[in-house]
Amino acid sequence: MTQKLDIRWLKVTDSTNNRALEGIPSEKDKTVWAAEFQTAGRGQRGNTWKAAQAQNLTFSILLKPDFILAKDQFIVSVTVTLGLEQYLKTKGVQSKIKWPNDIYVQDRKICGILIEHGISGEYLSSSVCGIGLNINQREFPEDLPNPTSLILEVEKDEKNVQTYCLQAELELLVAEIYKFYDKAREEYAQTGKFDSLYNLYLEKLYRKNEWHRYIETAENKEVEAKIVGLNDTACIVLEYRDGSRKAFAFKEISYII
Ligand code: BTN
Repeated sequence: MTQKLDIRWLKVTDSTNNRALEGIPSEKDKTVWAAEFQTAGRGQRGNTWKAAQAQNLTFSILLKPDFILAKDQFIVSVTVTLGLEQYLKTKGVQSKIKWPNDIYVQDRKICGILIEHGISGEYLSSSVCGIGLNINQREFPEDLPNPTSLILEVEKDEKNVQTYCLQAELELLVAEIYKFYDKAREEYAQTGKFDSLYNLYLEKLYRKNEWHRYIETAENKEVEAKIVGLNDTACIVLEYRDGSRKAFAFKEISYII
């Protein structure tokens, strides 16, 4: 059954994550705020998120994942990133998930995600999933290290690609994300775990089982390693040339790209 989507478009706002956070007390699971322009878009690590006006998707989904234990909160990232990967595939673009939750096409970032959780007792009470997906933008500021967009990627294979309609693309994308979110609910009800979704996430992981260089941020040390998976707390596990392994939380490791 197709669900009616609740998507609220704003011409301009500071950050759609702020609109969704304000909506927590009164709004339902699966409410979306999207903006043509954000004046104070927020990114990971306290960075700002800048996107050209009305060219990209900048939106936030309010989820009320009351079936997800706080300790399992990473499954929200898993459902959102798998939905994005699947949406891009329907557009003919093969992407990978860069742990914890960026979306890359080869070595270029097409999407960033900022998730803010609320916890009540042992369970999540809300997850605000803020998503910035580059769609029609062709030129980016020079200080962005490696950006790309849907249109730039599709134009590699097709001629005369039309500018995408943001409203239509958002509906398609949100529907893909909800499919994985609904699967998470079902899988948990049936098995008490999320194994098949975690496995799918691992299949799509950027740089999995490949040798690359990273910086261990605590010691500012450059190392060569390969990503072999995630541990129980969703930290990334790297293996070194001598066979030893170490797990890193977000901010403890940075990729050299
Ligand atoms: C990142 O740093 O990669 C995460 C970027 C997240 C940006 C999105 S745009 C919509 C939502 N509103 C925000 O202020 N941030 C997120």
